[in-house]
Amino acid sequence: MITFDIITIFPEMLSSYIKESLISRAQKKKLIKINVHNLRKWTHDNHQTVDDRPFGGGLGMVIKIEPVYKAVQFLKSKFKNQNVKLKKTKVILFTPRGKKFNQKMAHDLSKLDQIIFICGRYEGVDERVAQKIADMEVSIGDYDLMGGELPAMVCIEAISRLIPGVLGKEALLKERITKTGGFIEYAQYTRPEVFSPKKGINWKVPKVLLSGDHKKIEEWKKEHGKVIE
Ligand code: ADE
Repeated sequence: MITFDIITIFPEMLSSYIKESLISRAQKKKLIKINVHNLRKWTHDNHQTVDDRPFGGGLGMVIKIEPVYKAVQFLKSKFKNQNVKLKKTKVILFTPRGKKFNQKMAHDLSKLDQIIFICGRYEGVDERVAQKIADMEVSIGDYDLMGGELPAMVCIEAISRLIPGVLGKEALLKERITKTGGFIEYAQYTRPEVFSPKKGINWKVPKVLLSGDHKKIEEWKKEHGKVIE
């Protein structure tokens, strides 16, 4: 079972997603476990302060290192205290300048026992979190979001669907995974064979798919597929 531990200051953002059908079913089947942790739990002042002004000036606030450090230590020790063999854990910090998330990364991460996601917010996170605490920085694309919560959901979904039993259609999934951990996405059609939204307009399904000739169909799929890596 893979455990996702998400550290965030907006735990509510993730709660409905976690209750969603396939993700919730995967948790019930004990294939994955998602824990959402409020970073404020690891603060000690009355205001539960998680951010502060940046040294050197600048607008906006920066997430402090102390609560993040304590949260990560606590979540790592959870497994160390169980007398089980050393778990494969990675700590990931979401930032737009991180390594670009892709299918291969999802594949590699799906082999771990625990992933701790640190979701940034405000103007950023104290740089020492990236340097000293996180094992890697990950971006889900070249655009700036308001925080790491959506990236966490994106990664959890891409990783979870690769875990045997989550989709319940492993044979289908296997067929579409390349040797290097990429994924083949191809065009698909279903009935009707001809869709006519208006008189004289006929949108047809490629003939080869209706031919029953499996070899030709496989060739067509290869030709029209795109490998996502
Ligand atoms: N935080 C803000 N933007 C992000 C992005 N594109 N990917 C990951 N984390 C982010």
